[in-house]
Amino acid sequence: MKIRILGSGAGGGFPQWNCNCHNCKRIRAGEMTGKRRTQSSIAVSSDNENWLLINASPDIRAQLGAFPAIQPKHGLRDTGIKAVLLIDSQIDHTTGLLMLREGKPLDVYCTEMVRQDLTTGFPIFTMLSHYCTVNHHPVPIDGGSFTIPAIADLRFYTQALKSKAPPYSPHRHDPHDGDNIGLVIEQISTGKRVYYAPGLGEIEAHVMTNMLNADCVLVDGTFWTEDEMIDLSLSKKKAAEMGHLPQSGHGGMIEVLDKVTKARKILIHINNSNPILDEASQAHRQLLQAGIELAYDGLEIDL
Ligand code: MLT
Ligand code: MN
Ligand code: ZN
Repeated sequence: MKIRILGSGAGGGFPQWNCNCHNCKRIRAGEMTGKRRTQSSIAVSSDNENWLLINASPDIRAQLGAFPAIQPKHGLRDTGIKAVLLIDSQIDHTTGLLMLREGKPLDVYCTEMVRQDLTTGFPIFTMLSHYCTVNHHPVPIDGGSFTIPAIADLRFYTQALKSKAPPYSPHRHDPHDGDNIGLVIEQISTGKRVYYAPGLGEIEAHVMTNMLNADCVLVDGTFWTEDEMIDLSLSKKKAAEMGHLPQSGHGGMIEVLDKVTKARKILIHINNSNPILDEASQAHRQLLQAGIELAYDGLEIDL
């Protein structure tokens, strides 16, 4: 299978339009060794032709424009996107659906909780019903599996994660199973597996099992420290309040991934405040020493 990283940044991207933090200021001025990043999305295919879009980023137009394999090939209107899977209802993962409104009905796979958010607090499914319509396909939240007709040779397993629903969700302060999911993508013919969880607040037993069984993990790289946004005066929220596990410190992602020996380990959904974006930083070096890579826009993973 092939995974294309369409966008490796967290909400806001890097640099963020209004941000003058240490990272954003320096990348804009060309004074930092590092890469710009669009907002969180990947695509997966087993034949390099029929793709599942996983999350739909506000930056999708540029992401598709930079990726010939997914562009129209046959007939007047066409796309390599055969279906869309959403892992939550966050702005950075769903707004791109609005940019796909000129197409055929969209087959969207997501949990019932996400469907509810996208018809109430952020009603883009309702809005799209006036353009292309959305066919909602519910996905399991207990680790159960399913296949998607046009995406040959891949099987998907989805399971609820302890994370957070977005601020506009009717149950933001009343977590429900299915607000967020972790995803295993398995190639049926080869048995190869990827574990994808860009929003990972807590390492539950099933998360660890999925990471240990995977050939590649693509996991939450949002923050370096728990108080990063507070320390930089960017927000009053801790990483945990936003449903993200930081990389550094006791119990952080570096420690967690140390136990994961088989898989290629890649961080994704990296926030613009994170020091790992600076390739000359101590934090960046520490990651590389731990055998952990940073996803970047355009990265392709062949398994
Ligand atoms: C998050 O995952 O917490 C988001 O990136 C926040 C956002 O999109 O505003
Ligand atoms: Mn996000
Ligand atoms: Zn910034």
